[in-house]
Amino acid sequence: MRKITANGYLTLDGRGAFPKYPGSDRRPEGVSALFRHMWYNRFDDVTTVVMGRRSFLGHQEVWSESARKPGEPAWLLDYRRYLDRVEKICLSHRLKSTDWQNSRILRGDLARILAKLKREPGGNIMVEGGPAVVRECIQRGLADDYWFFVMPVVYAKGPRYWGPMDSQCTLRLIETQPGEDGEILLHYEAVR
Ligand SMILES: NC(=O)c1ccc[n+]([C@@H]2O[C@H](COP(=O)([O-])OP(=O)(O)OC[C@H]3O[C@@H](n4cnc5c(N)ncnc54)[C@H](OP(=O)(O)O)[C@@H]3O)[C@@H](O)[C@H]2O)c1
Repeated sequence: MRKITANGYLTLDGRGAFPKYPGSDRRPEGVSALFRHMWYNRFDDVTTVVMGRRSFLGHQEVWSESARKPGEPAWLLDYRRYLDRVEKICLSHRLKSTDWQNSRILRGDLARILAKLKREPGGNIMVEGGPAVVRECIQRGLADDYWFFVMPVVYAKGPRYWGPMDSQCTLRLIETQPGEDGEILLHYEAVR
């Protein structure tokens, strides 16, 4: 059975943003332990990445290999190439086509879309934002586990992860891992 993981990247006040903080601009020569854990170690098992339209277009613009910047560390290229080759699902009513390789556009009820993907052959599935899509996964219990990358900033700007919710949702903590610049990775699994 294909497992569904939802990834969230948020500030301490639950905003889906990438603010600057000490160390956030650092581009180490080697991939950080946290990034390796969240992505590099999963290049083989995650074969489908699901994103809302804005996140999909943002990732294509910033992270496809064609967006590579001169002089950047080699490990970033591995991430770009992974994102280019992995199957990508863009959730959108508006977008009719995409020129990002290995991508499909799907629309409709998120639970039905994820159930359809689960029935297709492949490895694990990662829901990579945006915040509203991850929130819907939590609220409706659509993912098997959740990885929250929490940045040490109260930002007060950007889309809210914790917008309106209907009811309590309790998760089970699997692991925590500190980052090198004050971030913390919280890994939870769904309680069913
Ligand atoms: N991992 C990440 O990408 C990430 C993480 C943290 C923060 N952020 C930030 O969050 C922002 C983007 O997040 P967001 O929540 O605003 O947008 P988003 O989730 O990336 O995209 C929202 C759009 O996705 C489409 N969509 C969502 N569910 C759908 C469904 N079931 N069926 C069809 N279409 C569906 C709709 O597009 P249509 O209008 O085309 O129907 C909707 O307007 C950016 O500012 C980004 O920097 C992103």
